[in-house]
Amino acid sequence: MENIKWGELGFAYYKTAFNVRYHYANGQWSQMQVTDDEYIKMHMSAACLHYGLEIFEGLKAFRGVDGKVRLFRPDENAKRMINSANRLCLPAPTVEQFVEGCVECVKRNADFIPPYETGASLYLRPTLLGTKTCLGVRAVDEADLIIFCAPVGPYFKGGMTAIKALIMRDQDRAAPRGTGDVKVGGNYASSIWSLEEAHTKGFSNVLYLDAATHSKVEEFGAANFFGIKNNTYVTPKSKSILPSITNKSLRQIAADLGLTVEERDIPVEELATFEEAGACGTAAVISPIGALYDLDNNVTYDYGMKVGETCKKMYDHLQGIQYGRVEDIHNWNVEVIM
Ligand code: PLP
Ligand code: COI
Repeated sequence: MENIKWGELGFAYYKTAFNVRYHYANGQWSQMQVTDDEYIKMHMSAACLHYGLEIFEGLKAFRGVDGKVRLFRPDENAKRMINSANRLCLPAPTVEQFVEGCVECVKRNADFIPPYETGASLYLRPTLLGTKTCLGVRAVDEADLIIFCAPVGPYFKGGMTAIKALIMRDQDRAAPRGTGDVKVGGNYASSIWSLEEAHTKGFSNVLYLDAATHSKVEEFGAANFFGIKNNTYVTPKSKSILPSITNKSLRQIAADLGLTVEERDIPVEELATFEEAGACGTAAVISPIGALYDLDNNVTYDYGMKVGETCKKMYDHLQGIQYGRVEDIHNWNVEVIM
């Protein structure tokens, strides 16, 4: 085990021992390669460098209460990477290959899997790059799939403490028929300006609205949004939101805990009616939203800086499954036999 101050980790790159790679050329994927090289050598005219032909995933491995190591729903990340690859006409891995690569990455970096009860986990970042040389804009048939990992702490400073965010009207994250529903690097590139704008104004994140009408709630930064009221879990449904695996799991957990689940349009004004609000994602897990500021209309939606009861209950249940404390009745975990 590495001598790391596990409890002090934030969400940042950390050098581990190995990463896993596959190369696609001549219509097929190579065998898995394992390397300690942190760098990639590629041609300066590689498609990913010029036209954003890049997609990625994010998932976590947890060292449980029983000492077992579990990956959370890697098959779902594999399926989403395949969708993202298809959207950018990149070669897609198979589900089996993706999961095999993740499992190998975890095994090879055993010393970097945080101990139980440190609140930290091992974050995996599978990344697929279109590496074929090109100058004109077109689809490419050469790619690298690289899976690396880093031990991480909470995504938002303070972890399970409420965050304040700005409702963004000056810029959109994704177009109605664009790439918002797949995990392409370009979506994040187009979110940087608004995130910086929020930071400058003293907010830690951004709530995006639908690009067509700016009247409905969409994505919460690099996480999905949900609201709680009347024993109901409400989350927006839209073609330009990334289908979050955490949100999918929370919808199931909410139902298992006896809440009604609604996936539908959320008009901005409805924000005033929620008892609790939160952001969810692999990196964020659940981050309670303390307040949302609509500066254009001089309206604040205030949920209080104390973590809500339902958010807390769902957080404990989800992390309970991930750390092996709560029975995994839906078979979400994949145990990594070290
Ligand atoms: N939305 C965006 C834009 C994201 O980047 C992420 C992170 O992956 C999520 C939502 C949450 O998705 P997941 O729960 O699958 O990590
Ligand atoms: C994740 O939650 O896995 C993400 O990908 C968010 C990330 C962009 C920081």
